[in-house]
This record gives sequence, structure tokens and C-alpha cells, in this order.
Amino acid sequence: MEYMGNKNYWDEKFFNRSDKLLTPEKLLVQSIKYFKKGTVLDIACGDGRNTIFLIENGFRVTGIDFSSKALNRLERFAKRKNYLVNTKQIDLSIDGSLDHIGIFDNIVINHYRLNKKQLKNLKNHLTDNGILFICGFGDNNKVDSKFRKEDLIKLTDFEDINKSFQLINYIENQDERGTVLTYIFRKIKA
Ligand SMILES: C[S@@+](CC[C@H](N)C(=O)[O-])C[C@H]1O[C@@H](n2cnc3c(N)ncnc32)[C@H](O)[C@@H]1O
Repeated sequence: MEYMGNKNYWDEKFFNRSDKLLTPEKLLVQSIKYFKKGTVLDIACGDGRNTIFLIENGFRVTGIDFSSKALNRLERFAKRKNYLVNTKQIDLSIDGSLDHIGIFDNIVINHYRLNKKQLKNLKNHLTDNGILFICGFGDNNKVDSKFRKEDLIKLTDFEDINKSFQLINYIENQDERGTVLTYIFRKIKA
């Protein structure tokens, strides 16, 4: 599975998906109790299973992704339910692509691996006590046709953010997909 990178791969994947929204990430559903009321930036939102779930739970959500096919689907799913959603097509592999994204009360990154520089900059896009939810496959999964090394989350990914964020929960979950790691950080008040 390619998480970071190839736009054609993702456009094709979303284009070929059935016209049905997938269920939200179960670890996000479990973790929503930690979220701060208000806005959410859903980074690499795909076609919006988590975006829609968050809207349904009272958040105002901006979904960003580089796949126009994914964002079109998200907009369609939202429209069907009369939900307002803000979408932006952004290629996260471009340096500074998040610079003008704005400030949110929560940021969700589900199954996408931001680089360390981008992670460090996220503090500039969160309000005080804002929540950063990160969930993805850990580097204890075996690299094979299912997992690419560069997509697997490492503990060292977060070594530069510990001055601005407090880890409030960590969940290591083994399921049919492999080992899924969830980190919930709270931005320390400046
Ligand atoms: C595994 S999917 C996760 C989608 C969504 N977060 C979810 O949990 O359903 C990975 C997502 O990352 C997006 N993506 C991959 N590389 C990207 C990049 N360079 N810039 C922006 N989005 C990217 C893909 O289009 C895809 O929607």
C-alpha cells in the first residue's frame, strides 16, 4: 500500500471505489472524547470517512488531500447529507504546503506519515490545548508488499515535537490489518 506519494495510484483507487463511504477509523471513534470542541484539520483525508464522522460529531472540518478524486467523493458524500465541508487540494510532499492552511482546534492524521519538519510545524496550526491525533501502521510491521518502510510510523518521528506537545494517550492495537499505533498529543499552552 502506498500511503505517501503517488497521486495517480490514489486517484485510480478512489475512482474505482464503490459509491459508499467507508466506516470511520475505530481508533478515532474511541479517541474523539479527547478532542477540543471546534474545528478539525483532517490531513490526507482521502474520501472522508473520518471527515464525515467528525462533522456528525459537531466539528467544523477542513479535509486536505492531493487526490482530486478523493476530494470530489468527500464533497459528494457531504452534499448528500447537507453537511458543510471545506476541502483543499494540497500535495504534502511539497515543502511549505501547509504554511497557509490556518489554525485549528484539532488535527487528524490517519494513515499518512508526515515528515518530521511538517510535524514540528503543526504547533503553528493548533490553538492552545489543541489535539493532534495520529494513527497509522507502526514500524514493527514487517515490510512486504502490504507495507512500505517509508509509510511506517517510528517513535523517533515525534522526537522534535515533545517541547510543544504532551502525549496524553498512546494505543498499540493489533488487528487484522497489523499493528496500528495511535498517538494523541495535546499542544502545550505557549
Ligand atoms: C491510506 S489513505 C488514508 C485516507 C484517510 N485518512 C482515511 O483514514 O481513510 C492515504 C491518503 O493519503 C493521500 N496522500 C498520499 N500522498 C499524499 C500527498 N503527497 N499529499 C496529500 N495527500 C496524499 C492519499 O490520496 C490518500 O487519501
